[in-house]
Amino acid sequence: MNIVKRFKNHYRKGFMPWVHKNPDFNLVKVVEEWPIKPCKTLEMGCGTGVDALWLASQNFDVTACDVSEIAIRMAENNQPEKFKSCHFHILDCLTDIIPGSPFEFIFDRGYFHSYKTKKGRREVAEKIADLLEPHGLWLSVSGSFDAPERDTGPPRLRAKDIVDAVEEHFRILSLKATHFGNEEEEPARAWVCLLRKRQ
Ligand SMILES: C[S@@+](CC[C@H](N)C(=O)[O-])C[C@H]1O[C@@H](n2cnc3c(N)ncnc32)[C@H](O)[C@@H]1O
Repeated sequence: MNIVKRFKNHYRKGFMPWVHKNPDFNLVKVVEEWPIKPCKTLEMGCGTGVDALWLASQNFDVTACDVSEIAIRMAENNQPEKFKSCHFHILDCLTDIIPGSPFEFIFDRGYFHSYKTKKGRREVAEKIADLLEPHGLWLSVSGSFDAPERDTGPPRLRAKDIVDAVEEHFRILSLKATHFGNEEEEPARAWVCLLRKRQ
């Protein structure tokens, strides 16, 4: 089953172990500490929208996309009236035209890591480079191989899987071993990678 069908099925069945109520602290930390100033931003595979809505609350001009209609309807329902600067779209990030491109900042949490092959991950990295302005930034949160396998855990990438997929189009500004920001007692290990598009 391809990735799009797989995720649409998951949402239909109510299987969404990645859903988190509060914005992932990894996003908040990088935006605050780097800092990344409010700018034209895209979230790919936004799910139920909590991180996109946090960015909108910080005055980022956000486009957020997911291939699942159920996810986008949930995200829209989560959207307070005052954060209408977050524009949700139901589309396939890899093959559809994304309104509003190019972007200055792209965020993904668990979208890039969902591609199981080297080829798939390289295609995603190339697509993200195409969607970014020159020198644009990409922040990616992915599951890490340095975590015990779980029944419902995220995919587990090795650092070299990330490097292999991104290096042609991006300079790696930081690659940090951490864990997902969610409400679980023992969140899964994660990589947080900040990248700048090469010229
Ligand atoms: C692991 S979930 C993470 C969702 C959200 N970022 C979060 O952390 O809660 C991956 C998301 O990517 C979406 N997705 C997968 N392939 C996609 C594609 N080709 N285009 C758009 N969204 C896609 C899925 O529907 C799913 O919502």
